[in-house]
Amino acid sequence: MPLTVSPATPILGAEISNVDLSKPLEDALFREINDALVQHSVIVIRDQNLTPVSLINFSKRFGPLMIHVLKDALLDNYPEIYRLSNKKKNGNPEGRAYAGQYWHSDLTYEVNPSMGSVLYGIEVPECGGDTLFSSTAHAYETLSEPIQNMLNYLTAEHLFAHAFRGGRNSKVRPKDPLNDRPLVEHPVVRTHPESGRKCLFINEGFTVRIKGVTLSENRALLAFLFAHMTRPEVVYRHKWQSGDVVVWDNRALIHRGVGDYGNDQPRHMHRTTIEDLSTY
Ligand code: OGA
Ligand code: MN
Repeated sequence: MPLTVSPATPILGAEISNVDLSKPLEDALFREINDALVQHSVIVIRDQNLTPVSLINFSKRFGPLMIHVLKDALLDNYPEIYRLSNKKKNGNPEGRAYAGQYWHSDLTYEVNPSMGSVLYGIEVPECGGDTLFSSTAHAYETLSEPIQNMLNYLTAEHLFAHAFRGGRNSKVRPKDPLNDRPLVEHPVVRTHPESGRKCLFINEGFTVRIKGVTLSENRALLAFLFAHMTRPEVVYRHKWQSGDVVVWDNRALIHRGVGDYGNDQPRHMHRTTIEDLSTY
C-alpha cells in the first residue's frame, strides 16, 4: 500500500499512514517520509511497535544521533534514547518528567543545535499531556517586509538556564548539569537547508536577548515575536495515543509540552535527537 500523507492543519503537521517503522525502510520510502517532514515540519505515524534498536535505526536515517547530557534520563545500554517519564522505579525517576513546558526548539543553547527529534509515546495519559507545535517559517513569512529586513541582520543569545528563570517552569529540577552551559549565539533568521524557507530561530525557553539593541527594544521585540509565533491559529496540538511516533523539524518549528496531567497518569516516552550538520 502506498504511503499516505494527510495534513493536520493548513500550516503544519501531517499524519502518515501505511508505514511500519520497525522494519528497515527502502531509500525511496524514507525519502518520501523526509519530504513530508520538510513540507509539514512535524509528522505523526500512529500504531507503531518499536524496540529501542528499531527506534534508533529509524532515527539514524535522518542523521547522526546526539547523546543528551542528562545522563540519568538515558535508557540503560541505549544512550541515544532519552526518556521522558513521570514514572518511578524503586523510587528513582525513569526519565525526565514534565520536560519542555515552555516554547522552545531542542538544543538551541548548543553551538550545534538539533536538526530534529523523534518522540515515541509508549504510555500516554488518558487525556492531557498534549504537545504543541508552531511553524517558525510561517511566523517569518507572515511578518511585514520592513520587520523581516530588520530581523535578517540580527543575532540572539541562547542559554539553557534561561528556561528556569521567572518560575515559568517550576517542575524542572534545579540541579541540572545543563545549567552550566555557556551562552551561545545564533542568527535570528536562518534559511532552512532543505525547504529554502527563512525561519525565525528564537524561542521563549532559551533566547535571552537580541544583540545590539537596547534593553527596552529587546523586551518589546521578543514579546512581540513570541506572541506572533504562538497565536492559537498557527499552532498544531498533538493529542497522543500510545504507539505514536512523532518526528519534528527543529529547524522549522518551536514546540512545548502541556503538563496538565497528574502523576497518577503515567506518561512514558522514548526520544532520540538528531544532529544538525548544516552550517548557517
Ligand atoms: C521534547 C519535548 C514535550 C512533550 O521531548 O523535546 O519538548 O510534550 N517534549 O513531551
Ligand atoms: Mn523539546
